[in-house]
Amino acid sequence: MLLALVTIFLVQTWLVYTDPVGRESAPLTAEASRGQELWHAHNCQSCHQVYGFGGFLGPDLTNAANQLTDERLSVVLTSGTDVMPAFHMSSEERAAVRTFLVELDLTGQGQVRAADAMSPRTLFESLFRGTATPDEPILEREERGLTILLEKNCIDCHLPNVGSAYRAADMTRMSGRLGRDGLAAILAAGVPGKAMPVFVLPTPDIDAIHAALDHLEGHGDTVRAGFENAGSGALGALFALPWFEYPRPAEQPAPTSPTPTDS
Ligand code: HEC
Ligand code: HEC
Repeated sequence: MLLALVTIFLVQTWLVYTDPVGRESAPLTAEASRGQELWHAHNCQSCHQVYGFGGFLGPDLTNAANQLTDERLSVVLTSGTDVMPAFHMSSEERAAVRTFLVELDLTGQGQVRAADAMSPRTLFESLFRGTATPDEPILEREERGLTILLEKNCIDCHLPNVGSAYRAADMTRMSGRLGRDGLAAILAAGVPGKAMPVFVLPTPDIDAIHAALDHLEGHGDTVRAGFENAGSGALGALFALPWFEYPRPAEQPAPTSPTPTDS
């Protein structure tokens, strides 16, 4: 018996000390270490988890890097959000934090809280497509606009219930109020000081976005009701979760990086 226990102990010890995961994963690069210092200095972990450990005010950031556009990270680290404080980081500090998050992402898998939930963008897409009828199909231009709205992550911030962390305007009530030119102006300039990025887009794309927003406004009641139901039903905490905690459909293009609004 004793011999068996000693043998098990020795085998276990050997396994632990020869564990390839801990040993072969490269140490952080100099820039990532700088990012890690900032991470500690600003106490990010008091609100954010890594591998599920840490505070629960903000999301787990273990695998956030591959889904976080530069623009988004920049805005968050300079202006903060309603809940997260503004750290006013310089571009050099932001780059270091990004490198840290990128290298952190390579070390393993964090906890995806919403593995089974439908993400707001998936819901949005299906509600949008659900508005098509034989009499009124979705036109080619509207379809193109929908693709851009999804590609550029507009829906992540512009939820119909204004429930995203950014409190951005309801996307089902934009087109009439702003008109095509108002929309073009906002896309070209962003909203300085707010989370609204600059989007440099060719005219046909702006027209397509406008067409899609117009279609959306025409079916606003249906789309808003769809979000309302999802928010109060089985998908309960749907809107409380940050966008990157949802699984991304495989065919969905990776988020693009719009031009930063600040530097
Ligand atoms: C006081 C708590 C708090 C601290 C400290 C904090 N955060 Fe956050 N952070 C949040 C919350 C909450 C969110 C989710 C957005 C929201 O609800 O406002 C968030 C969101 C984020 C996001 C994702 C933004 C998005 O697109 O949804 C990133 C990245 C982030 N934080 C990085 C950091 C880093 C890096 C630090 C340290 C320099 C930090 N946070 C410190 C609370 C905090
Ligand atoms: C990172 C979050 C974010 C993303 C992504 C985003 N927006 Fe915004 N947007 C905002 C915020 C926040 C505001 C509100 C600024 C304010 O308070 O005035 C805004 C404002 C706007 C406005 C002005 C609304 C009004 O009522 O005046 C329009 C139009 C708009 N966005 C369209 C878009 C489109 C189209 C896309 C995608 C191509 C997009 N936004 C992507 C955050 C975002």
